[in-house]
Amino acid sequence: MKIGIIGTGNIGATIARKLKAAGHDIRVANSKGVNGVRAFAEEIGAEPVDVRGAVNGVDLVVLSIPLPALSALPSDLFSSVPDGVPVVDTSNYYPVLRDPRIAELDDGMTESVWVAKQIGRPVIKGFNNVLAYTLAELGLPKGSPGRLAAAVAGDDPKAKETVMSLVSEAGFDPVDGGSLEESWRQQPSTPSYCCDYDAATMRKALSMAVKGQAAAKRDELPKHFAKLGANASHGEVVAMNRSFNPLD
Ligand SMILES: NC(=O)c1ccc[n+]([C@@H]2O[C@H](COP(=O)([O-])OP(=O)(O)OC[C@H]3O[C@@H](n4cnc5c(N)ncnc54)[C@H](OP(=O)(O)O)[C@@H]3O)[C@@H](O)[C@H]2O)c1
Repeated sequence: MKIGIIGTGNIGATIARKLKAAGHDIRVANSKGVNGVRAFAEEIGAEPVDVRGAVNGVDLVVLSIPLPALSALPSDLFSSVPDGVPVVDTSNYYPVLRDPRIAELDDGMTESVWVAKQIGRPVIKGFNNVLAYTLAELGLPKGSPGRLAAAVAGDDPKAKETVMSLVSEAGFDPVDGGSLEESWRQQPSTPSYCCDYDAATMRKALSMAVKGQAAAKRDELPKHFAKLGANASHGEVVAMNRSFNPLD
């Protein structure tokens, strides 16, 4: 597939590397224009583009930029992109740790529903409930014992299926997280969020999520990170995430 990826940070760059390695034709864009992304593109064998080049003439788009930046993308960015081209949203909302407060999200709107509103078209939520380290280092081939899972949510069954197959190519068992509206179940500090679970456990975790409970836990994160210290290991972060929502 021809895949355009906007954002070449922790998540976007890893998705780009993995999907390039899986044989896809990758275009990458960041905030710095074609020349600003050229070195990374050359390193992985992708085409450097600007944000318009990442969405026009591709089969699928991945948006992997900070959530508030999604509302600052050009308002006509997707106007020439056919409806059948899936747009994947990897974003998460962290108002206390990183992002400015967004009233609609604080009032309970599902994050990716808000994202879809900002860009003026539906999205598929994917790659958001695995940590960057997990995505880069802990993927395994399909069928491997202990393979970890990542949730995928959205309303268009065909687009969701396509994104689920990309999640698998990236090394993870894709788990259907339901509709876009229901994707609050895979948002920060829910039971399924960044806990390095296998598919069966992730399904259980998604089903145990209680609407409205995660935001307060998420906003306590600075306190928990302070306790862990600056050099927390990946295992310590995962254990902390699991401790917010015990499954037994
Ligand atoms: N880090 C994680 O563990 C993790 C896990 C799952 C999901 N996520 C979510 O995935 C998204 C990306 O996270 P990340 O950790 O990869 O972020 P990151 O490392 O900060 O990278 C963000 C990328 O977005 C680009 N960008 C920012 N504004 C842009 C704009 N207006 N136009 C084009 N590109 C723009 C940046 O460009 P420059 O390179 O030019 O600055 C950078 O490449 C976030 O919403 C995050 O919450 C993160």
